[in-house]
Amino acid sequence: MDYKKIIASNLAVTGLSEEELYNMLALPPDTEMGDYALPCFRLAKTLRKAPALIAEELAANYPCGGGIVSAQAVNGYVNFKVDRKDLAARTLERILAERERYGSSEEGKGKTVCIDYSSVNIAKPFHIGHLSTTVLGSALYKLHKFLGYTPVGINHLGDYGTQFGKLISAYRRWGSREMLEEGGLRALNELYVRFHEEAEKDESLNDEARGYFKKIEEHDPEAVELFELFKELTLKEVSRIYDLLDVHFDSWAGESFYNDKMQPVIDELREKGLLVESEGAQVVDLSAYDMPPCIILRSDGASLYATRDIAAAVYRKNTYDFYKCLYVVAYQQNLHFRQVFKVLELMGKDWAKDLVHVAYGMVSLEDGSMSTRKGRVVYLKDVIDRCIEKALAIIAEKNPSLENKEEIAKTVGVGAVIFGALYNNKIKDITFSYDKVLNFEGETSCYVQYTCARAHSVLEKGGEERICQPDAVTPQEFEVVKKLAEFPDVLTNALEKYEPCFVARYCVDLAQLYNKFYFDCSILNAEGQTRAFRLALTESVLITLRNGLGLLGIGVPSKM
Ligand code: ARG
Repeated sequence: MDYKKIIASNLAVTGLSEEELYNMLALPPDTEMGDYALPCFRLAKTLRKAPALIAEELAANYPCGGGIVSAQAVNGYVNFKVDRKDLAARTLERILAERERYGSSEEGKGKTVCIDYSSVNIAKPFHIGHLSTTVLGSALYKLHKFLGYTPVGINHLGDYGTQFGKLISAYRRWGSREMLEEGGLRALNELYVRFHEEAEKDESLNDEARGYFKKIEEHDPEAVELFELFKELTLKEVSRIYDLLDVHFDSWAGESFYNDKMQPVIDELREKGLLVESEGAQVVDLSAYDMPPCIILRSDGASLYATRDIAAAVYRKNTYDFYKCLYVVAYQQNLHFRQVFKVLELMGKDWAKDLVHVAYGMVSLEDGSMSTRKGRVVYLKDVIDRCIEKALAIIAEKNPSLENKEEIAKTVGVGAVIFGALYNNKIKDITFSYDKVLNFEGETSCYVQYTCARAHSVLEKGGEERICQPDAVTPQEFEVVKKLAEFPDVLTNALEKYEPCFVARYCVDLAQLYNKFYFDCSILNAEGQTRAFRLALTESVLITLRNGLGLLGIGVPSKM
């Protein structure tokens, strides 16, 4: 139920629409004052009256009912109170009926949303810099699905480029299959680093690499086989991490997938008079939009990253007829996407407006060790492993007799990594700190998980009885109820703004409110209706936290 709507429709203020009133309604900082408040200061000018007087008149004339039990004027505000027992009963009834569907909706029905995320590069390390795109994209995927959309998860693999020529050259000179099978991505990366070191001394290596790259393009069997080996190795390792993080894709169409899909796009650009020559290259001039030209073909005729993205967008529109196509990619690529979107717009694709660059900030490690420059790479796998290890140590210390410690430490450690990357607004640069993400008292997933374990244990001891209708509602209970009722709106909002952090923060807020209730009001020692209501409240919290964390890809152990 939307109380703001009810209040707005029952208020009559000359010159203000219902919608304007709706938007003016605020949440008072202290719920003892009221649950919603209308500040009357802005009205003083048009109504030519003092705010306090306006508030008094509005309060006196407000017809209570429909879940609103009182309207009171205080210092220029009208404070409204909702029927707390009614809100509590309806909220808990809904949660206990909908359970793992609580918060879901059909609002996205019939709409397909392509989400391009993680998009790893073949033969390159999967490092901590990929953490955000991977977990943000995955959370957006789950969120869209939960709200009724049809998401298409796309891993736009970086599987094309001259670097593969370099790798083949390095592999043939210094590598072997055994070495790669043993060393995996690290070994591949070492080969790559070595190539660059040696090429600095010996220029001819670069020509050799170019030759191999050409061979891949010409489908030379040996070159293709080696490339496939690099790809397989990469995907094997990356998939293990995806499994840990509960990340999935519907399509692995990477850059090379568009090899034969660029020509029609290039033809179309030419037909539409958008291609101009610049220093031998074919470019789209974007100076009218304050951007450097978008290079489509290099002077040697080779296509570029942007060319592939333009072809990919066209392909996705034709294949999925998307409602939106999201690109979860670091803000360093802002210009790239602005250029690509603009070129598509100039081509007359009216759906170019549905392309969204969901940009996010950088992740660095506390000790500042993140750098892709020669060898200074922080592998995501290492970060996850270390978090799991640390989680295990903490759990073993806190609860030595706990069964299944390894399994639980995995859920806690992985959760800490995901939550750590998702807790802040996505555009912010973040510094990853092991101690911070694993602080059981902090704004962390383990704090939320621990709260779930607490709720679980209360329910286990409390038995089966549940009553959603309270005989009275304490302030602590009411805070929890209000928060619970917000959950569906939080999800809609998070999706609209592409901010999974809203869900993460919501989980922490709800956990904090539940813990306050838990310490202030006794549950198991209460009696009758109060006890059964508090158990229903506890179960509703557990369900909602589980749903919230689940949308982020984080599991909830029943014991910790
Ligand atoms: N592989 C690219 C990188 O690591 C990201 C690709 C993002 N997706 C896209 N369609 N351009 O920078």
